[in-house]
Amino acid sequence: MKENYNIAVIPGDGTGPEVIREGVKVLTVASSLFEFNLNLEYFDYGGDRYLKTGQTLSDNDIEKLKTYDAIYLGAIGHPKVKPGILEKGILLRLRFELDQYINLRPVKLYPGVDCPLKDKSPEDIDFVVIRENTEGLYAGAGGFLKKGTPDEVAIQESINTRKGVERCIRYAFEYCKKRNKKNKLTLVGKTNVLTFAFDLWERVFYEVSKEYPNIEVDYAHVDAVTMWFIKNPEWFDVIVTDNMFGDIITDLGAILQGGMGIAAGGNINPSGVSMFEPIGGSAPKYAGKNLINPLAAICAGAMMLEYLGEDKASKAIESAVMEVTAKHLKSLAAGEMGYTTTEVGDLVVKYLTKK
Ligand code: IPM
Ligand code: MN
Repeated sequence: MKENYNIAVIPGDGTGPEVIREGVKVLTVASSLFEFNLNLEYFDYGGDRYLKTGQTLSDNDIEKLKTYDAIYLGAIGHPKVKPGILEKGILLRLRFELDQYINLRPVKLYPGVDCPLKDKSPEDIDFVVIRENTEGLYAGAGGFLKKGTPDEVAIQESINTRKGVERCIRYAFEYCKKRNKKNKLTLVGKTNVLTFAFDLWERVFYEVSKEYPNIEVDYAHVDAVTMWFIKNPEWFDVIVTDNMFGDIITDLGAILQGGMGIAAGGNINPSGVSMFEPIGGSAPKYAGKNLINPLAAICAGAMMLEYLGEDKASKAIESAVMEVTAKHLKSLAAGEMGYTTTEVGDLVVKYLTKK
């Protein structure tokens, strides 16, 4: 009997619908080649719906999304909506309420892709960042005192629970073991200044490491890591870090792999509903022009298939993407690829069906 997966698709804002359209095109072809069923159901959550109805997500919407096998998300962010409303009301709310406590961001330079680092090639840039996704500075703890007065105080606290830190670190060790490449896990923190939060992270990291004698452990301060990413990206295999640092270093990671045109991420709840997205945002200035690069969304789709257990289909999509980067695209940037969004999707399908 064919496996059957129920997927909630949220194309979202800006270029989200265009890249998701190409992602769905590729996923659909993969499903017939590898013989599984994808039941896709579309949801219109995003900026336009918010501007019309005043609603980001209702409790019912969340309950409904909890019934799917995975969520495939385009982008959230609208130029007419004040920053923070959609991000907190949709993207972060989903991450938190679905307890997607891992943000998984592979950084892999594909063949033919221009890397901004001189003398670095695909062998040098292949690592994965595991970012804690439900706590830290993102938890929303804090507030104002005497707002708008000269005595104003703004407090934003980083929340780090033993449970939250430990499950993230355990996931990272398991991931590193399963990946089985360099078998090296690097904790990225700031133990020299954030002596409470990263004291906890560091203690848990070394404690859990005792259960993984075959994994080499390493630690680096986050500021230094931004230098090492540029100078020696080949040092890294798997990195684990908190929510805020993970947010920052994964944008740096994305540019090492060629930019937002290719960078994908998974928001993972290992025992619940996970959500996969291109990490580039809604790029409103390109919306509707058929110029944006859909490869990030296509790669997010491949990550989703891997997570659903369709490893072969996932790998086949990844290698089709690599053929497209190696043989066709002049650049990964919107408008500079030498192809339209639709054509890039078609090229991936062409190589996928050739396998
Ligand atoms: C990301 C994004 C989000 C984040 C924003 C849009 C809230 O930058 O997924 O990295 O900060 O996590
Ligand atoms: Mn980010």
